[in-house]
Amino acid sequence: MPVSKKAAKGNPDVETPRTRIETMKNSVLVTRQIPGESLQRLREVCEVEVWPETLPPSRDELCRLVKGRHGLLTMLSDRVDGELMDVAGDQLCVVSNYAVGYNNIDVDAAKTRGIAVGNTPDVLTDATADLAVSLLFAASRHVLTAGNQVCDGEWKTWEPTGWLGVEPAGKTLGIVGMGRIGKATAKRLVGGWEMDLLYTSRSDQTDMEKELSGRRVELDTLLAESDFVSVHVALTDQTRNLIDEDAISKMKSTAVLVNTARGEIIDQDALVKALESRSIFAAGLDVTTPEPLSADHPLVKSPHCVILPHIGSATHASRNAMSEIAVDNLIAGLSDQPLRCSVT
Ligand code: DGY
Repeated sequence: MPVSKKAAKGNPDVETPRTRIETMKNSVLVTRQIPGESLQRLREVCEVEVWPETLPPSRDELCRLVKGRHGLLTMLSDRVDGELMDVAGDQLCVVSNYAVGYNNIDVDAAKTRGIAVGNTPDVLTDATADLAVSLLFAASRHVLTAGNQVCDGEWKTWEPTGWLGVEPAGKTLGIVGMGRIGKATAKRLVGGWEMDLLYTSRSDQTDMEKELSGRRVELDTLLAESDFVSVHVALTDQTRNLIDEDAISKMKSTAVLVNTARGEIIDQDALVKALESRSIFAAGLDVTTPEPLSADHPLVKSPHCVILPHIGSATHASRNAMSEIAVDNLIAGLSDQPLRCSVT
């Protein structure tokens, strides 16, 4: 049996950090097939079980599968809490999340148990920013509903008053959360469509302000003054329902709201009401609560809402690069080395 990182630390007879040979004895669970060659690399250094289904394992299945594992490579749909860590056992030393967001992981519970947690930042920034821009345009110009009319054989004629949308050029863009993806989205829209930029951020972003002539404001100001609002904050207890009924009521009736971060940041019932009453123009969502959202949900039915199945990072380049980082993180954690991208 390999010795756990936690046991090794307190035991003078045990050599730490582990060598690559020692990691061979480790057992890891990968909760979904991931693209690229990196799993092969993982198989060379430890025993690997990959959940073979397209749908995630149920909670019961996950609890059964994690038992005795030294490392877990998890998806954003897997809830990794203290209970799961305890079920896995004392030998668990690393959880490598296949995503930049890690709201599915109880990081504090991991910390108290000495378990390293990794994520996959940077490599999906461009892909996600591209998708935010795509959603912004799709929602602004009725791309989905107009296209569906063609597919459904209901396209009758060119209509001078049909499908009228809104244009971003020269308007005001509000970026909620000026992290990597927020910045990349702003660069595209300020550079390409000469938009004026407002943003919220925990800290001043002096370089970015110079480069994009952005202005840091309070959320209320951003919502009231922006024509297009794109959400990029991480999901935390502070940002859950950040865009609630009160926040949405501050937006312009011509505004478009885009979310490529996490569904829970927007109060969906409030968004349904706002779209039904036309108190905002449209919304474009790559993320919802829950995922998947059922086909009869009012947001899915709304002609003013474009919904995608959480595909922000879904490009060959991004997903392959995420696989590389996730496997690097896992191998480093099994060897008691600093993770390539650590969140703990
Ligand atoms: C992430 O990485 O957090 C995205 O939501 C999925 O790639």
